[in-house]
Amino acid sequence: MTVPETETTEADRALLAAAAEAAEQAYAPYSQLSVGAALQTATGEVVTGCNVENASYGLTCCAERNAVFAAVTRFGPDVRIARVGVVAHRADGSLLPVTPCGACRQVIAELATATCEIVYLAATGPTRRRLADLLPEAFGAALRPGADR
Ligand code: THU
Repeated sequence: MTVPETETTEADRALLAAAAEAAEQAYAPYSQLSVGAALQTATGEVVTGCNVENASYGLTCCAERNAVFAAVTRFGPDVRIARVGVVAHRADGSLLPVTPCGACRQVIAELATATCEIVYLAATGPTRRRLADLLPEAFGAALRPGADR
């Protein structure tokens, strides 16, 4: 699968390429939708995840959340997420314009920098959006200890 190169920076393309590579690891026998996420930490490290489905359906975990959990596992609780790239394709390789689901937006927001961006393949091509625009007035950030200081 080739990631289109329109309207993206080199850094965006690298993140999407890492997400596309992660999508190849997806375990998605039920939906046949392979999703890969590549997040960049505030210190520039890249951590990836793919979706892992389950026969119960409800226990499926999205690529984005698996990437976030992997980042905490690798770098610890102080890790912060600066950007997340997402790529999704069907079994025939056709790309789908997937943004993080609501649950994943909430989980990303927990550890996101104030300017965190989501990079994804919209129908019109690669697109970059602020997480704050995709999840306005998010629950939780103000509850973090020390957030008001
Ligand atoms: N999925 C993701 O991995 N990320 C998203 O942002 C949307 C949905 C996965 C979950 C499931 O394995 C498949 O896509 C179909 O919903």
